[in-house]
Amino acid sequence: MSDSVEGAYQALGAHPGIRRAVEQFYDRIAADTALTPFFVGADLDRLRTHQVELLAAAVGGPSRYSGREMARAHHGLRITDAAFDRVLGHLNAALVDAGADERTIRQVLRTLSQMRLDIVED
Ligand code: HEM
Repeated sequence: MSDSVEGAYQALGAHPGIRRAVEQFYDRIAADTALTPFFVGADLDRLRTHQVELLAAAVGGPSRYSGREMARAHHGLRITDAAFDRVLGHLNAALVDAGADERTIRQVLRTLSQMRLDIVED
């Protein structure tokens, strides 16, 4: 069980746990002035909702992601590698705060790291 992807979803506290972690994650982003300029004008409610879906699906939860593809959602934002690293750093911290175990965190970060090429364009 702990070896399955479903395990990671449960380890994060299923949807309620993931929702809390994503809220923390965006609180951290909102407090980081190196990142806030990227989010000016973004629909944050929609973003949070879709981020929860994406994360839940990425860890094997019973969730479908209903947002845009990553390349399309980030197109034109001129996101840099450094900004991408900062965002993943905040996600790491939010997951640590949420009490997720190291293995689960590594799995989440590994999965989302694979999206770098679709998201970074500068
Ligand atoms: C692996 C890392 C990332 C993931 C998984 C991710 C995920 C998402 C998701 C799910 C959405 C919503 C798409 C939709 O509603 O259709 C989104 C939108 C957005 N993301 Fe990311 N993102 C990542 C990295 C970043 C980075 C590094 C930045 C900026 C530094 C960023 C800035 C934004 C902005 C501004 C939007 C809103 C765009 C709009 O409303 O038009 N994202 N992202």
